[in-house]
Amino acid sequence: MTNDFTSEFDFSALPVVPEGTFAAPLKRPVHLGEDWLEPKQREYDSGDDAIWDALFARQMEILPGRACSAFLAGLEALDLGRGGVPEFATLSEELNRLTGWSVVPVPMLIPDHVFFWHLANRRFPAGNFIRTKETFDYIQEPDVFHDVFGHVPLLTDPTFADYMQAYGRAGWKAMQRNRLKALGALYWYTVEFGLIREAGGLRICGAGILSGPREAVFSLEAQSPNRLMLSVDRAMRTDYVIDDLQPTYFVIESFEDLYRQTVERDFNEIYNTLPPGFTYANAAVIDTDHVLHRGTQEYHLRGGRGSDAPPV
Ligand SMILES: [Fe+2]
Repeated sequence: MTNDFTSEFDFSALPVVPEGTFAAPLKRPVHLGEDWLEPKQREYDSGDDAIWDALFARQMEILPGRACSAFLAGLEALDLGRGGVPEFATLSEELNRLTGWSVVPVPMLIPDHVFFWHLANRRFPAGNFIRTKETFDYIQEPDVFHDVFGHVPLLTDPTFADYMQAYGRAGWKAMQRNRLKALGALYWYTVEFGLIREAGGLRICGAGILSGPREAVFSLEAQSPNRLMLSVDRAMRTDYVIDDLQPTYFVIESFEDLYRQTVERDFNEIYNTLPPGFTYANAAVIDTDHVLHRGTQEYHLRGGRGSDAPPV
């Protein structure tokens, strides 16, 4: 079956964005080509390596027993705790041996179609900088710690690795149909902020949760957020928060199930019925939801980030 995730479009060359397609106005640094790839990874100094090590140690205090087993196995397989910011060349060699993926350095957030093109070719674009002591707890732009520690371990899982490639292909199609916001919500609620059923409970699989200490605890243990089983149609219609803890998390049954719900689905049908904006507020619970936990939303009701609200 051919659908948005398995389209026959040839991704060997960078797709040309048709006239009239919405694209974020990002200014490409002059030393980069159209692929937006840095010619080589930045050389990190000992201060940068110390920041990586401190971030790594902090997460490892929290993640065992909370992160999904595929993530923890990936961390180990790639030896991401060997000390200092990982070298992409070594990392890519190992990852390529496992699932055919590589990690490539980019200066900042890159245009959507370029990002999708890299994913479609099993290349994961990762930030070419690391946060500083001043921004240790929170940065808005994804740095090398978020990108490599958060995203790369799961690329060692064969099913998840295929999902990410398929997402790149689907992204390009969504962009042409002006459905990027909806497909972006799916990425947000699975790749960045997903939970997964495992070992009789819930574990974390989203990179946005895995790369920070607060949300790793909040997403699983707090009473505030909703935890709902993933429905692709529902998640694609749901707004989300970009600079605070999430009011709602979606839970996948397994990576195989995520693959089935997306790659084996006809997105034409979804796109034809999608309204132009989001239908559901980020804290909403609706009749058709399979609710695992109905959140109190206390954290957000008390003001969320910027207030002294405890993440309960
Ligand atoms: Fe990310």
